[in-house]
Amino acid sequence: MNIDEQRRAFLRDSAVLGIAVASGTVTLMAQASKEPSSSQKSGKEQEPEVTATEDLMREHGVIRRALLVYAEIAPRLRTNPADVDSAALKQTAQLFRTFAEDYHERMLEEQHIFPLVRKQGAKLARYADILIAQHNRGREITDYILAVTSGAKIGAFHADPLAKVFEGLVRMYENHAAREDTIVFPAWKKNFNNKQLDELSDQFEDIEHKMFGKDGFEDAEKKISKIEGALGFADLAQFTPPAPPKP
Ligand SMILES: [Fe+2]
Ligand SMILES: [Fe+2]
Repeated sequence: MNIDEQRRAFLRDSAVLGIAVASGTVTLMAQASKEPSSSQKSGKEQEPEVTATEDLMREHGVIRRALLVYAEIAPRLRTNPADVDSAALKQTAQLFRTFAEDYHERMLEEQHIFPLVRKQGAKLARYADILIAQHNRGREITDYILAVTSGAKIGAFHADPLAKVFEGLVRMYENHAAREDTIVFPAWKKNFNNKQLDELSDQFEDIEHKMFGKDGFEDAEKKISKIEGALGFADLAQFTPPAPPKP
């Protein structure tokens, strides 16, 4: 190879390396060579990773199921409050407190998501302010629900105010979680590359284990399933509406 050919080969190899570095291929290749293949992994390691935003969104799924309990119970409170299972409502509020308010909102959104999103422009900063105000209003509402469901029955005096409170909370939180899923979480995600998101997902999992001493999501999902069962909401098919009238 003469000098010119050597120079051209060097430039060609450098360009390939440059593209690989820019796209993160080199890092990924280096990591791949260190990581055991899927056939070498065992047990929990074989489960697919839950990404940080998927984690937040599946938590919204549990929260929505608690809200659906409130939404279904509100009309029953108005027609026959004596028949409403006060204990199941109390358990729903307790789950909302520990899983939604103390963990999802306080430990993840208020510590990790909102402080970063707040710096991404005036529109997102306003979202952060409103979402925090809504978390706080939700906490006041949960205090109220826990107070009026502490007895064996819900007194007639509390039935209508409680139904109104349920409707208000459901309306707020459905809007709240939908904006977080479609605007706030995607904006937050833009601050990181895939490797950093992986690390954050591990960090979120550590927080979950510290708070609950186990898998908080699986435990919360089991709890809401049990509540749905006690209230007669376990069968999903009951929520399929009748066919619409012919236009
Ligand atoms: Fe939130
Ligand atoms: Fe949320």
